[in-house]
Amino acid sequence: MFVCAWEHCDGRVAMKGRSTLPEMLESGEPILMPTVKVKIENLNKTIDAQVGEDLRNALIDNKIQIYEGLASLLNCQGKGLCGTCVVDIVEGQGLSDPCAYELFRARTYDKLRTRFMGGQKSEHPRLACMARCYQDTVIRTVPQPITD
Ligand code: FES
Repeated sequence: MFVCAWEHCDGRVAMKGRSTLPEMLESGEPILMPTVKVKIENLNKTIDAQVGEDLRNALIDNKIQIYEGLASLLNCQGKGLCGTCVVDIVEGQGLSDPCAYELFRARTYDKLRTRFMGGQKSEHPRLACMARCYQDTVIRTVPQPITD
């Protein structure tokens, strides 16, 4: 029997009733990746992301703006270096665990952004390019106007 290497998969999610991977490949049917829902709270929008896909790609594929100002041109293209793809995690533990480097980058950029560009401070900042989607999640894109 085919055993999926992905730690969160029970091995049956993408099998579509067939017992082995060779059977699936022989059938010629497209092998569909399971998807999860990502709700963008401030835009009142919900998108589908493939399991294991990085959050930045899922947002960009769905034409969700995650960068603000010049960062939309001067970002590191998802390499985890610039810190400008910060999103705020509102609800759900559906993303991969952050490493210390990612948390440092996300918190540093969030502090700089709130100090120099205005906007609300993020409660749980994450770098979208380093967060992988594994379960349903609710996020907030960071560009937020300050309201009194
Ligand atoms: S795009 Fe640069 S850190 Fe995510």
